Amino acid sequence: MVVAITGITGLLGRNILFELLRQHRQRLQELKVFAFGKAQGGKSLQARILDMMREDGAYYLGTADISPFADRVTAIGWQLEEEGLGISSEDMEMLRRTPIGLFIHAAATVDFRDSPNVRDALQRVNVTGTARVAALCEKLQIGQFAFISTAYACGMEEGVILPGTTNFEAGFRNPYERSKLEAEVLVREFWSKGKLPQIKIFRPSTICGRLLEPLPGQTNKFDIFYAWLAFFLRLKAKKLGHPGYGEFADIDIRVCFNPNGGLNIIPADYAAKALLEVCRSGTAEQDFHLVSPKESPNQMGIPLMFDFIKVALPPFQDSVPEQLSPLERLYYEKSVGRIYTPYITSNTMDFRVDSLLGNLPEGFPECPFVGPSQFVTLLEFARKHNFGIS
Ligand SMILES: NC(=O)c1ccc[n+]([C@@H]2O[C@H](COP(=O)([O-])OP(=O)(O)OC[C@H]3O[C@@H](n4cnc5c(N)ncnc54)[C@H](OP(=O)(O)O)[C@@H]3O)[C@@H](O)[C@H]2O)c1
Repeated sequence: MVVAITGITGLLGRNILFELLRQHRQRLQELKVFAFGKAQGGKSLQARILDMMREDGAYYLGTADISPFADRVTAIGWQLEEEGLGISSEDMEMLRRTPIGLFIHAAATVDFRDSPNVRDALQRVNVTGTARVAALCEKLQIGQFAFISTAYACGMEEGVILPGTTNFEAGFRNPYERSKLEAEVLVREFWSKGKLPQIKIFRPSTICGRLLEPLPGQTNKFDIFYAWLAFFLRLKAKKLGHPGYGEFADIDIRVCFNPNGGLNIIPADYAAKALLEVCRSGTAEQDFHLVSPKESPNQMGIPLMFDFIKVALPPFQDSVPEQLSPLERLYYEKSVGRIYTPYITSNTMDFRVDSLLGNLPEGFPECPFVGPSQFVTLLEFARKHNFGIS
């Protein structure tokens, strides 16, 4: 089996790689993975992959000896922003020669901010970059193309949401959501013109650390709700004069969220497993929500998270308060509140999972629901890494 994965160093990309290697551990010679990624900070892609396998994959695979696994992985250096993707002629030759059963395009800029620079980057990486990947795949011999989008490509839709919903009129919380929908449309166009064979579009919700495979809560990045909490931890450290997880501090920000809403959270390892299983199923269906069947209610998760980081807030609000203090303006207008309030004030988003669950075999693990104990597992892992605060 030959699989190509883009965004290999990312949260989802690496978990897909680890899961594939885990599944093939008794017959590694049957697996070959083309791992697309970039060199960074003076480190080659190959070195980055090896570090990632030692520091993260070793836990997933349950062994410190990652070399037999690493031998199955071929690093393909590229850059989505470059015309022609910057793939070397030797690598291109190798790719042309090798039939690829499954090509998974997970690389993207995941940035919820709205500024001219971010908009440009989203266009270059998520939209134009995806068009380049589709054009590359047209030239290669591939069996199926899996595009990783986002559940929030549906924009501001609420209530029942089908996985193929395409509605540019719904409005978006940020340019990132729109860029992912534009990329989906491109992929569908390539397929409808016969330029791609089978396609599958996966729409994950909020991806958190692992909850099925070791280490419990493991993630390589602390964005989304982790980053939201990191903002409050920074304020708390400033107030206390030290980064204190051990004591409570008052932070005078009236945080608002929808008490009837929730956040849909999917563990990275479950997402990887479910995606691979659906691709293996042979189904001709194209659209899949990669989400939990159940939202984690705001009423449960949000107070629990603040309690965990020992931040005491004024009473929660149902909507953005009218007269904002300078600190609240920092939160709501210039930082994490601006980015995440649209998500936590939304009404329930009932992402339908029929196509996902309908293509998973009997006995497939259930998606771990992120309830109180799972939140604590995720937050304990984040605390060990100071929520990514350096
Ligand atoms: N995380 C979530 O909660 C979430 C939710 C829904 C959907 N998704 C989607 O799921 C996919 C994976 O997300 P993730 O959270 O795993 O992403 P991530 O951790 O931010 O990783 C992004 C990956 O894309 C690569 N990349 C970024 N810009 C690139 C470029 N110009 N050229 C080549 N590679 C580039 C990164 O490489 P470097 O390491 O070199 O930067 C990294 O490997 C994305 O398509 C995202 O839109 C994510």
